Amino acid sequence: MQLEDLVTIKSLENEAWEALEKTIMYYQGRPVGTVAALDGTVDALNYNQCFIRDFVSSGILFLIKGRTDIVRNFLEETLKLQPKENQLDAYKPGRGMIPASFKAVSLNGEEYLEADFGEHAIARVTPVDSCLWWMILLKAYVAATKDYSLAYQPDFQYGIKLIMELCLATRFDMYPTLLVPDGACMIDRRLGIYGHPLEIQSLFYAALRAARDLLICNGNQDIVNAIDNRLPVLRAHIRKHYWIDLARLNAIYRYKGEEYGKGAVNQFNIYVDSLPYYELDRWLPKTGGYLAGNVGPSQLDTRFFALGNLMAIISDLASEEQSQAIMNLIEKRWQDLVGDMPMKIVFPALENEEYRMITGCDPKNIPWSYHNGGNWPVLMWMLAAAAVKTNRICLAEKAIEIAQARLRDDEWPEYYDGKKGRLIGKQARKYQTWTIAGLLLAKELINNPSMLPLVSFEPFTAEQVSRACEFEIDSFDS
Ligand code: GLC
Repeated sequence: MQLEDLVTIKSLENEAWEALEKTIMYYQGRPVGTVAALDGTVDALNYNQCFIRDFVSSGILFLIKGRTDIVRNFLEETLKLQPKENQLDAYKPGRGMIPASFKAVSLNGEEYLEADFGEHAIARVTPVDSCLWWMILLKAYVAATKDYSLAYQPDFQYGIKLIMELCLATRFDMYPTLLVPDGACMIDRRLGIYGHPLEIQSLFYAALRAARDLLICNGNQDIVNAIDNRLPVLRAHIRKHYWIDLARLNAIYRYKGEEYGKGAVNQFNIYVDSLPYYELDRWLPKTGGYLAGNVGPSQLDTRFFALGNLMAIISDLASEEQSQAIMNLIEKRWQDLVGDMPMKIVFPALENEEYRMITGCDPKNIPWSYHNGGNWPVLMWMLAAAAVKTNRICLAEKAIEIAQARLRDDEWPEYYDGKKGRLIGKQARKYQTWTIAGLLLAKELINNPSMLPLVSFEPFTAEQVSRACEFEIDSFDS
């Protein structure tokens, strides 16, 4: 690289850091998070709040840079916002939930934090992912500081326990996956992802693994057992039923319907005609594959969702072979999945009647915009982490190069529109915090792969694997 280029990159990084610094939110004089965006040109709505999912990118970056206090403060303060009582009131957040976002407000000279559990959010969406991201960030904090004492404090142990109880509770559904409403995660608008969306399952898996590491067994044996039971079955379920590659497409193509009883091959009764199988046949590279967006009764959502697939690699939910195949797919379908800005949140977009029916005619989610096929720079750090994990660094380097050529001049937009992500998102905020942090964090992970364990998980131990195999055979192959 030329000296001139190096200087440009350094100045870009400095500018990014300066911009990030300005987003830090203070509460009672302490840094507790980052606001979602600092765009002075539009009405802030709730972008002046700290979103739990958005903060994770900045939080991990701060941890890498040794600024652990802000993450600790964030974890402590958000934990205080978690409802601890079982309130049988439909309009109150359930026990164990972590809010979508919070802000500091002053009343009679006193400052306090006000949480939003979705009751103010557009369309009143439920932030299921917040408690999962909170667990993931707590694990990252412990991995970065090597200090378990925060997680071992009684209030933290109780908070983890409540999150686990909420996720592992007895319910009507008998899948190992979590059943959630539409818009319960980063895609916080209606987009046909109710049911068992991959994004939630990948985060759930990572959160379960984090909780397993951090929960003190003594006194929590029932929850630890529940986690141990859930992990292998969840993993086996996703690896088997969500997986799509050519071999699997072939199997599905010849599926029979209406199979009753335990011996059913087509367990979820997927009707082949519901799938865009000719398009998939054209699109799927021979060596590539990915995890489907959703699996439910007569439902296999074949859209590619980036966050769920990348987090499945990072958390070890996808097998080694599957992880490589996902990276192959990204490489071979680069123009579709990365294009001019890493990377597409979902591919392909919902169009025409599907768009109208499934989004409810959402003007922000028109085809190839925002959640419906827009390109989101924040996903770059997850791409980088997945690339480090699978030893495919080149892919992340290429993505970073594309992004850093544009992001500063475009003033760090929240998202991009168009099939290739060439247009700055129609309603995208500028100076979006997780866009800035996404690039910086991707670079940190590539330059310093030893930081990967902050966010990633290793494969199960031999003992766990053999247990998991038994589960697979008993529960799925009989
Ligand atoms: C949008 C995104 C959501 C994000 C929020 C704040 O609503 O869909 O994922 O958390 O903005 O940036």
